[in-house]
Amino acid sequence: MSLTRVHNLSVSLDGFATGEPQSLEAPFGHAGERLHEWMFATCFWGEGGATGVDDAIARRHEEGIGAEIMGANKFGPPGWHDDPDWKGWWGPNPPFHTPTFVLTHRPHDPIEMEGGTTFHFLDATPAEALEKARAAAGGKDVRIGGGATVVRDFVAAGLVDHLHLVQVPIVLGRGVRLWDGLAALEVDYTIEAVSTPSGVTHLTFDRRPTA
Ligand SMILES: NC(=O)c1ccc[n+]([C@@H]2O[C@H](COP(=O)([O-])OP(=O)(O)OC[C@H]3O[C@@H](n4cnc5c(N)ncnc54)[C@H](OP(=O)(O)O)[C@@H]3O)[C@@H](O)[C@H]2O)c1
Repeated sequence: MSLTRVHNLSVSLDGFATGEPQSLEAPFGHAGERLHEWMFATCFWGEGGATGVDDAIARRHEEGIGAEIMGANKFGPPGWHDDPDWKGWWGPNPPFHTPTFVLTHRPHDPIEMEGGTTFHFLDATPAEALEKARAAAGGKDVRIGGGATVVRDFVAAGLVDHLHLVQVPIVLGRGVRLWDGLAALEVDYTIEAVSTPSGVTHLTFDRRPTA
């Protein structure tokens, strides 16, 4: 069965998955790179990086994924909709290598990139978007790639089977919060946590089977 998965979503102790304001120069706003320093230090992110526990967990991001869904604010900074040359942050060969569905209220033609990534732009409910992504995923799993708003909406709609969060020991104070509207989430999920020597805590939420 095709699962819906979130991986490597990094949140501060106070629950923010990005800082503010987001811009071309500061995609994570005042958070800078602090939410992802744990990942930048791994071999998963770059040659020569660490090959320890964070690396092993981070790599699960890639396994068995046939399509990604992301939000408009992950795809680009404010104003990208009006830039005809904007093709995402990731250069000519983005790291997705699958059909990638960008949720946006502004229509946009698909963009075919090198390496198997095609960006499709979709104005749809989470359930409708997931149906389209599943159809494109060829029986593999669908990753919800972020940001916080889109992950929160998919979790709230009961569509996420596996959620991997990385709690980073920083306090941001402001930004986009993950947890708003998700009270009692723990009822629906089996939750495990493990802290690693880098100082982050990996949390996995696996949806309990329904009776
Ligand atoms: N912490 C992490 O691990 C992590 C991971 C990924 C991304 N990020 C960061 O998170 C930030 C982005 O997160 P975010 O919460 O601001 O925004 P987001 O979730 O990326 O995107 C939200 C936007 O997507 C569009 N959208 C969402 N649902 C839609 C729907 N059902 N139909 C049509 N359009 C829809 C809307 O944009 P429009 O109305 O403008 O079209 C909405 O404002 C970025 O800074 C990114 O770098 C962090």
